[in-house]
Amino acid sequence: MTSIEDRKDDHIQLALDDNNQTSGASAFDALILEHDCVPETSLEDIDLKTNFINHTVSAPLIIGAMTGGSNEGDLINKNLAIAAQTLNLPLAVGSQRAAIESGRTQKIREYAPDAFILGNLGATQVRDYGVKFVRKACESINADAMVIHFNPLQELIQPEGDKNWSGILDVVKKCADSLSIPIIAKEVGSGISVFSAKKLLSAGIDWIEIAGKGGTSWARIELNRNPDEQIMKTAYPFLDWGMNTVSSARLLRRNFNHLNIIGSGGVRNGLDIAKCIALGCNLTAIAQPFLAPARKSPEEVISKLSICIDQLRWALFLTGCKNIEDLKKVKIYEE
Ligand SMILES: Cc1cc2nc3c(=O)[nH]c(=O)nc-3n(C[C@H](O)[C@H](O)[C@H](O)COP(=O)(O)O)c2cc1C
Repeated sequence: MTSIEDRKDDHIQLALDDNNQTSGASAFDALILEHDCVPETSLEDIDLKTNFINHTVSAPLIIGAMTGGSNEGDLINKNLAIAAQTLNLPLAVGSQRAAIESGRTQKIREYAPDAFILGNLGATQVRDYGVKFVRKACESINADAMVIHFNPLQELIQPEGDKNWSGILDVVKKCADSLSIPIIAKEVGSGISVFSAKKLLSAGIDWIEIAGKGGTSWARIELNRNPDEQIMKTAYPFLDWGMNTVSSARLLRRNFNHLNIIGSGGVRNGLDIAKCIALGCNLTAIAQPFLAPARKSPEEVISKLSICIDQLRWALFLTGCKNIEDLKKVKIYEE
């Protein structure tokens, strides 16, 4: 096993530990959607279908990017892919770097021939390996969109992390100019500010996945892997660094009418999904909660996803909404 495969397996183990979730209350819990005691609709008539880059998916929920490139990672992706295909939900794969570097076949399309699939590479790898490498990643899974993840805090704490982030925006622009599928810029747990979004928009990126603070903490996960005491002491004040998903979504929508926003980072149930949509997100993504089910079977993943979808349907019913467009107009109150 190469060290990158070991790292992938470490990440899976550490992500399962509740101590590596963001501490404190969820920012979603402070939001209240306006209740409608006269819904005037039937639960079963509620339509959750959503348009996602010219595809109709069954709900505004993406199975978030997690893994690949190791034996355990491939099994997890297989179970996620079967669930995505069964429920017609988009699936984002984790970083494809390890698989591409080692020539490992990514069998996603075998299990999800029709699902909307998002590829994934890190921003510094995109800079170091260039547009050709990105194209190879897209083609290897016949991706419908490509995600580039921006994770500067994780890289600072990760023992093998890349501390040089110069020249990134130029290469992202080159990708946006030359790829035939859309690029989505995503964080991994520290959120995306208006300032960063402006830079990304200037590079031709109009899809953003927030991956804000509030869920899986990559600072905590990497700190568990880094034995360097100096780094441990330095990193300590940054464990809860970043913008929470709720603030990020609100500010991005307030500032950019036409930006496409995926709300993620600490989205934990269908009610959180509803709150993201009411805040102005186009879709949402959930990652860590599907990890334990995906280690077991596709049925476990389908069961977990179905609960989220039913909760979202209940949220629409209780706010008097018939579809996702109605949900975008629901009033939000703060506790
Ligand atoms: C085990 C695991 C591996 C992950 N690997 C990746 C990755 O390779 N690429 C990426 O963009 N995000 C990766 N993420 C980050 C998630 O996509 C997501 O942005 C983050 O975990 C916050 O969402 P959550 O709170 O729902 O987990 C990973 C998350 C987990 C739990």
